[in-house]
Amino acid sequence: RQRILSGMQPTHDSLTIGNYIGALQQWVALQDSYDALYCVVDLHALTVHPDPAVLRERTRRTAAQYLAGGVDPERSVLFVQSHVPEHTELAWLLSCQTGYGEASRMTQFKDKAEKQGTEGTTVGLFTYPVLMAADILLYDAALVPVGEDQRQHLELTRDLAERLNTRFGEGTAVVPDAHIVKAVAKIYDLQEPTAKMSKSEAGKGSLLLLEDVKRTAKKIKSAVTDADETYAVRFDPAAKPGISNLLTIFSAVTGRGVDEIAAEYDGRGYGHLKVALADAVVAFLEPFQERANGYLADPAELDRVLADGADRARDIAQPVLERVKSRFGLLPAR
Ligand code: TYM
Repeated sequence: RQRILSGMQPTHDSLTIGNYIGALQQWVALQDSYDALYCVVDLHALTVHPDPAVLRERTRRTAAQYLAGGVDPERSVLFVQSHVPEHTELAWLLSCQTGYGEASRMTQFKDKAEKQGTEGTTVGLFTYPVLMAADILLYDAALVPVGEDQRQHLELTRDLAERLNTRFGEGTAVVPDAHIVKAVAKIYDLQEPTAKMSKSEAGKGSLLLLEDVKRTAKKIKSAVTDADETYAVRFDPAAKPGISNLLTIFSAVTGRGVDEIAAEYDGRGYGHLKVALADAVVAFLEPFQERANGYLADPAELDRVLADGADRARDIAQPVLERVKSRFGLLPAR
């Protein structure tokens, strides 16, 4: 069976419904047909300088949300990135194969670096995509399920894998494909339906998986909708980005098609759609939160699941890293 790998940053107390629909829901669907590895990328989260106690807590919370969303630790390998030190070791090897200009062209880096200024921007933020490439290549992953915003990082990963194969011989690295499901790859902010919903802009426009559901319902009811004269409910992202985004979320939490939902609410005004969507999202979130809180209530058991995952991840990672090191010409220790 082919292998897949993906991860999320534990930078906030809660994931967003965008993380769920764009990534976690795909992870769960894929774990039946692939050998899946899902990690909490705590080393990546260090780029935002978290408080140590808060980082530890958020790492567990992120893992609990993977489990609540349906990641099955029996079938998939669920682990914390820093528990497998091979990630950082491979990252160094890859950083020596990455062009400075190439890394400088990463748009997420450019956006963040622009906000933080030269002195505020760390080398870690710059090499972030190289560590991400290491996460993927370390497991010979063939497929990487992510949202649209990770496409450029995946391209870099592919370029690096191909470069390794050219310089050190075929079979040095597996060239991974991105698995980006177009219909759900970018969930938009409810207040600004042309911008990505994100954890960091967690205002009224972001739906958080672990927030009070009354807040969720309120946010949905005050979502920005599209002002055309017709108030038609139809799936048309170019002309009606706000309504189309609500329909995408509605579809993801109910399993119904966007056109079918649109047909049901068309002609009844936006208000009806929002009330029904709020009910559907709350009906999804309540059992999700109950499961997540269950995992968080027993941190020792959660840590045991993660430790077991780390053992299984390391068993895969070690021989791959040895292969790459040997191809690079590093002298074996024994
Ligand atoms: P992160 O933590 O920002 O996001 C986690 C996943 O959620 C997806 N996503 C979205 N999908 C749809 N709509 C949205 N509004 C939305 N917001 C986020 C992201 O595309 C991602 O799939 N660099 C990665 C973490 C990472 C990783 C990896 C991913 C590190 N190593 C190896 C895959 C493989 C990141 O910051 O994701």
